[in-house]
Amino acid sequence: MNGLVVMISGKGSLLQAILNAGLPISAVISDRDCPGLCIAKEAGIPISIVMRKNFGIPFDRIGYTHALRDVLLKKNPKLVAMAGFKTVLDKSLFEGVPFKIINIHPSLLPSFPGNEAVRDTIAYGAKISGFTIHYATPVVDHGPILVQAPVSVLSNETEESLHERIKKMERELYPLILKELLNTQARA
Ligand code: GRF
Repeated sequence: MNGLVVMISGKGSLLQAILNAGLPISAVISDRDCPGLCIAKEAGIPISIVMRKNFGIPFDRIGYTHALRDVLLKKNPKLVAMAGFKTVLDKSLFEGVPFKIINIHPSLLPSFPGNEAVRDTIAYGAKISGFTIHYATPVVDHGPILVQAPVSVLSNETEESLHERIKKMERELYPLILKELLNTQARA
């Protein structure tokens, strides 16, 4: 088994934090060309881009998931960490595979699931936000919770300012939780 695979779609600041913490990342997978891939390249980590053919409707979610599943199975990871991976995947990724998948989401689930969690938090007028680290299951932003932490929503908060403060805490905690899970699995 081969350490940790990290899945990204965006800036990759969480990937950078995981790297800085010295976790054994065996591969980075993305669904698109994105800035986070440069971080992986600079660190010399193998990259697989399982490119989406389109980002609209219709999207062959089942076909895409099977392609991603094949790549993951070949990498044979101990653990898979989603770190801003944006494609919703079919249930076949979560059933009958020999690894757990962990997700991190910028809200206190079950409030504000989905891709616009921070925007939705501000639009609703919520005063407490935060993030959730949980086992990923076929239901998006659902699954057994490992850790949650609160972040206050300040007055005059923008989506960018709130998300950055959430990510600051995510970058501290996500590597610690992943390290613990990797160690636990190694002992199992
Ligand atoms: C994080 O806020 C994470 O909770 C969400 O996507 C963001 C990833 O940020 N799932 P980055 O691309 O690592 O900067």
